[in-house]
Amino acid sequence: MQVLERLDELYAIGVGPGANRPHLSAAEDEAHQLAASWCKEAGLEIEVDRHGNLFGRAEVEHGVWVGSHLDTVPRGGRYDGALGVVAAIEAVERVGAGSVVVFRGEEVGCIGSRALVAAGDPLPMAFAELHVEQGPVLADAGVPLGVVTGIVAYARGELVIEGRAGHAGTTPMVGRDDALVAAAAEIQGVRDAALAIPGAVATIGKLEVEPGGANVIPSRVWMSLDVRAPDAERLDALIAGIGFEAGYRVEPAQFDGKAPQVLRNVMDARDLPLVELPSGAGHDAGILASAGVDAAMLFVRSLNGGVSHSPDELSSAEDVALAVDVLTDALAAMTR
Ligand code: GLV
Ligand code: MN
Ligand code: MN
Repeated sequence: MQVLERLDELYAIGVGPGANRPHLSAAEDEAHQLAASWCKEAGLEIEVDRHGNLFGRAEVEHGVWVGSHLDTVPRGGRYDGALGVVAAIEAVERVGAGSVVVFRGEEVGCIGSRALVAAGDPLPMAFAELHVEQGPVLADAGVPLGVVTGIVAYARGELVIEGRAGHAGTTPMVGRDDALVAAAAEIQGVRDAALAIPGAVATIGKLEVEPGGANVIPSRVWMSLDVRAPDAERLDALIAGIGFEAGYRVEPAQFDGKAPQVLRNVMDARDLPLVELPSGAGHDAGILASAGVDAAMLFVRSLNGGVSHSPDELSSAEDVALAVDVLTDALAAMTR
């Protein structure tokens, strides 16, 4: 299947293990160029907007976009973002209508879609994003596809702990001001703050220790923070509980327009079981929905326990083929 071959080609870009196409890297650019070449092969007109987002437009567009992103987390999986892009190219080619969109920098805060919205650039009437679930719900339910109801609220920020540098061998343990030891307690506190709020999660995924010598007591620790909750109130409580300034924040999004109904209709027409589920991951579709676009998301069953943001990310060829068919039917219905 062309879609799977294209996923392999994208996965081969950048240095392994896993997918490594971080935002603003040469690998992200190369992936965009490859996608542009596939759009051209499909007879689509290429456009790159001022934010770096790529469009492949069919002659008849009807203001309907389908797509996702091609940047990845470090050591990411084969499907996150990439599946939505290759499926969108396939769907627009088959239907002969609509636009493929490939957003920039989704993993670092939906940079491309947020820039588009913030600049007041033209938005589509409707947007559909196919994505792997990145969790175990569909696999546990034994169904291949799901329609997404909405996206959690999330925010990112940082924590900085200051201490005092000193000699690792000559400074007694008592009386040290070790920033990393203080950070360890802070990390436990972040975990406890999230555990205290139903449905909340908090992650410290990056840590920088200064000055970074094996024989130097750490004087400063910088930590990234990613916090999420099902609604704005719980996100507020989590941010207050941890006590940090959110560098950016995305409010929860609902997919409740006509586009999700089209997905449900297509699944019904194909006699597919309907499972609806919320997303704990952020997506460009959520940014567009919050900006008033009639947005929808179709999730494909994730295998391997639903693992994602990992090279172990996996979906079956059959589920992927079915998802591409459903996306194609939905695009056909939305551009009719
Ligand atoms: C995107 O993958 C996110 O961090 O939710
Ligand atoms: Mn993604
Ligand atoms: Mn991701």
